[in-house]
Amino acid sequence: MINKKSVEDIEVKGKRVLVRCDFNVPLDKETKEITSDKRIRESLKTINYLISHGAKVILCSHIGKTGKNLSLAPVAARLTELLEKEVPLLVDLDADETRTTIENMKEGDVVLLENTRMTEAEEKNDDAFAKKLASFAEIFVNDAFGSAHRAHASTVGVTKYLPSVCGFLIQKEIEALDHGINNPKRPLVAIIGGSKVSSKINVLLSLLDKVDTLLIGGGMTYTFIKAQGGKIGTSLCEDDKLEVAAEILKKALDKGVRLLLPVDAVIASEISDEVPTEVCAVDKIPDDKMGLDIGPKTVEIYKEEIAIAGTVVWNGPVGVFECDAFATGTKEIAKAMADSHAVTIIGGGDSAAAVEKFGLEDKMSHVSTGGGASLEFMEGKKLPGIEALQDK
Ligand code: 3PG
Repeated sequence: MINKKSVEDIEVKGKRVLVRCDFNVPLDKETKEITSDKRIRESLKTINYLISHGAKVILCSHIGKTGKNLSLAPVAARLTELLEKEVPLLVDLDADETRTTIENMKEGDVVLLENTRMTEAEEKNDDAFAKKLASFAEIFVNDAFGSAHRAHASTVGVTKYLPSVCGFLIQKEIEALDHGINNPKRPLVAIIGGSKVSSKINVLLSLLDKVDTLLIGGGMTYTFIKAQGGKIGTSLCEDDKLEVAAEILKKALDKGVRLLLPVDAVIASEISDEVPTEVCAVDKIPDDKMGLDIGPKTVEIYKEEIAIAGTVVWNGPVGVFECDAFATGTKEIAKAMADSHAVTIIGGGDSAAAVEKFGLEDKMSHVSTGGGASLEFMEGKKLPGIEALQDK
């Protein structure tokens, strides 16, 4: 349970409320059209609550990295459609016009401030920038779960200047993830994929204290296989993490956690839909080939584990699912989770994108909107964007 005050714990009527959302949505490279509006749709509950309770809603978010100067204009357009009311984009925080527009807002009005990362001050958690953002409002609501692991001006800095509470999305995310990881229906099975052991060390170590079974997939498989003396061809491998991988395998044994590695792999000479593929034992990959997906035997073994689980938590695809030739493993895992009676929780980022691509989102108990944030939560870290909010 989250012990932070929420929008329901404060009076918002007639108040100017600054709401930090995570509108960092994927855009089509050429057309700049939004390719998934999940993060926008997930923010609607809080926004609609504030509208219906007479708040003046000032939305803000980042999109893309600092220096890219991406505009939130496509988000303002999508919000206008979803809310069925005009959501103007206020592009210049320093313009008199922006301040006047905000001062003239009526109860239920909604505006969106331009990308907070138009300035480096955002990521530096610059105090003057935080103060400027705060100066537009009387209350701060953080509902940007996807950015809760970032201590930036618009997530943490502003809380110094305004009474600060959480929105419904942050509440929902924390409750689902906390329940899944810390108070799960057992057996708890975690599937951890992704390309690098280095980015998953902390989550793997933390999960060893919580899970009954850990299923490994993705590019990081091959660092584990090499650590065990297997032949991995040209597969991705972090040679400086071989010892860590061996240590994780030993810790799993010591703690009585069943850690399963793939037994076979779909291999090819390169990552392309155009090259021939074959299946081989995961530890006998020819010198000129690389493992790019879990093989069919592994799929069957992992499906059996998912079928008997009480809770399944998944973070990181088990193959290069962006290429159809190497998407089968990830798709089969997603389907097995969709078909299971277990509580199914998808960490955000690539695994959420995969579940969405396969049209299985609605079949899961929870699909997180946060990639880095859900990973850090699973690592057992405190999320600064949530810590900074007022306690109940
Ligand atoms: C995300 O997409 O994970 C969040 O929006 C945070 O973005 P960032 O990794 O660029 O800080």
